[in-house]
Amino acid sequence: MSGVQLTEVTKSYGPVNVIPPLDLSFDEGEFVVIVGPSGCGKSTTLRMIAGLEPVSSGMIHIAGKDVTWARPKERDIAMVFQSYALYPHMNVAENMSFALRLAGTPKKEVQQRVKVAADMLELTEYLDRKPKDLSGGQRQRVAMGRAIVRDAYCFLFDEPLSNLDAKLRSTMRTELALLHKKLDRTMVYVTHDQIEAMTMADRIVIMEKGHVQQVGSPREVYNNPVNIFVAGFIGSPSMNMLDAEVSGEVPRVKGNGFDLPLPKRLHQAVQKRDSSDVVVGLRPEHFSAATGGGGTSESEFSPVELDVKVAEYIGSSQFLAAEIGGKQISAAIEVGPDSAPLESGKYMFDTSRIYLFDRTTGGAIS
Ligand SMILES: Nc1ncnc2c1ncn2[C@@H]1O[C@H](COP(=O)(O)OP(=O)(O)OP(=O)(O)O)[C@@H](O)[C@H]1O
Ligand SMILES: [Mg+2]
Repeated sequence: MSGVQLTEVTKSYGPVNVIPPLDLSFDEGEFVVIVGPSGCGKSTTLRMIAGLEPVSSGMIHIAGKDVTWARPKERDIAMVFQSYALYPHMNVAENMSFALRLAGTPKKEVQQRVKVAADMLELTEYLDRKPKDLSGGQRQRVAMGRAIVRDAYCFLFDEPLSNLDAKLRSTMRTELALLHKKLDRTMVYVTHDQIEAMTMADRIVIMEKGHVQQVGSPREVYNNPVNIFVAGFIGSPSMNMLDAEVSGEVPRVKGNGFDLPLPKRLHQAVQKRDSSDVVVGLRPEHFSAATGGGGTSESEFSPVELDVKVAEYIGSSQFLAAEIGGKQISAAIEVGPDSAPLESGKYMFDTSRIYLFDRTTGGAIS
């Protein structure tokens, strides 16, 4: 089988188990993003794939080969670390070609590969510069270039954009996605930033405490999160979670300060349950101004009172820090360019987008 496979891989440091048995499979050419909170085991997983960290048990296959105990350089991988260090006394071209020269690659080929990588990363005009004469983003691209010249079977990235400013991060996200298209290689990218995951991934792996919570395309994990953890992690600002009860012949979900009809797709699921207790999930972006609008063909708007504490103007919308029945929530309301700050009062929620979760297990009700 091609691609990258982890089979029942575990990792313990002494008595502390950080990765319980983990099964993951990445297709050849796929861009996979592993996302999760700090300390959940993302870097450990990546380092085990790279061979920089031995597994405690289990097996790793790359391109069909059992590489569980192979050394890093026998794995045909290239890795970009979060804290990369460039050689300060070498210029960009020398930094990029260092590994190739070390491996005794013929000079002509080294030049050719550096040229291709530099073109791709728009570094051609900087090849003679030393790292200190580059901007942060250019340096980051050089670090990326060092990996690209190797033309490995699989590229591993550990938060390579985290020390860039927001604008550059967004540019680099686009460049990385383009790079993936050009190179057509398997890429495994680790981040705690769900926006990076959503924008770049073919598939997202969401991890919590070493456990995989869900694997799916950005659309799947956003639209159909399997549990409260995934629902709260994917989407920005985060989904609002409110304790509620389900009742009525035509079921409604009621809690402190709200009473909303449930969409048809949830009727059967709630009628089958023994308990009426649920957690209702309302995404900030599914609130709208009282005049409605912005929905899909299935949208059904129901009123809900928001007690607005702060309205932040961000151009196309306003972010509200508000309360429903005394509980803090956030809402993102689409507005015109010269809207006045929004105030407390009646807003609409698109009830076709309601999520329900089991209050005990956290699992999605669907
Ligand atoms: N050498 C070590 N000895 C003991 N525990 C370790 C060691 N290295 C990592 N850990 C623990 O393993 C867990 C996973 O660490 P890891 O670096 O994989 O997390 P991460 O998901 O990459 O987090 P971050 O987003 O902060 O980089 C953490 O709880 C960490 O404290
Ligand atoms: Mg890490």
